[in-house]
Amino acid sequence: MDHYEAALRQQLHSSCDLIVLDTVDSTNLYAKKLASQGAAHGTVVIADCQTAGRGRLGRSFASPKGLGLYCSVILRLNLPTEQLMNLTVFTAEAARRAFLEAFGVETGIKWINDLVFERKKLCGILTELGFSSQGTPDYAIVGIGINCNHLPSDFPEEVALMATSLRQILGRPVDRSVLAGALIRQLTLAAEAMAHEPASWLNSYRTHCVTIGQDVQLVQNGQIRSAHVIEMDDQGALLVVLPDGTPEKVFSGEVSVRGMYGYQ
Ligand code: BTN
Repeated sequence: MDHYEAALRQQLHSSCDLIVLDTVDSTNLYAKKLASQGAAHGTVVIADCQTAGRGRLGRSFASPKGLGLYCSVILRLNLPTEQLMNLTVFTAEAARRAFLEAFGVETGIKWINDLVFERKKLCGILTELGFSSQGTPDYAIVGIGINCNHLPSDFPEEVALMATSLRQILGRPVDRSVLAGALIRQLTLAAEAMAHEPASWLNSYRTHCVTIGQDVQLVQNGQIRSAHVIEMDDQGALLVVLPDGTPEKVFSGEVSVRGMYGYQ
């Protein structure tokens, strides 16, 4: 752990306030507490292990000790809520660029928040917003979990067949701190792009999104429906058509792509 913390501090040096924890329930929960106490924009929380790592749609995120990068970043972006709604999209594109920068690994994006390699999950993102008493956005927490040095036996049984790690992709262990450095650099660029020139980042996300153009299953409020995905709009919503030709916008829920994560 001391070695991990030293390596992280070297990679991230003066670029941000960095808190490194041995074990925590969830770095997102920890970062939320810090943000509500006034922690600065750009504060980064990284843990070596999470005992209650959280995912989207109320799921858990397995976070075994010493194997993954479990990271949450506090952002105070001064953007309206509508614009912050696609922070997950920009974070996913930042993570994609970080894999490329750090290890030359090309990944795809499964809408909205998963980075995949050969149909298996490599990384998940959980974005949470905090609001002031006036109802305006106060802070955002961007939580990123990356499977780095996991072997197949390190995953819980229920996700083992759907998950991969950088170690399995590259055939060698990776330095998590190098990835953290690339991720924070790319996230900083993503925040600038969101505010000033979002188009090229949105288009890059679309190009690498494995969900667009596919027949999918929409899982919303316990209901499962088939649909075809046409495009993603600038707010991050999917434009789909139902089998009877009805167009619909999808803002949330699970969108399963055939051949991925056990959907045949
Ligand atoms: C998902 O797969 O639905 C999102 C997973 C997000 C996991 C990361 S790990 C760091 C941060 N802390 C959490 O509790 N969750 C995020």
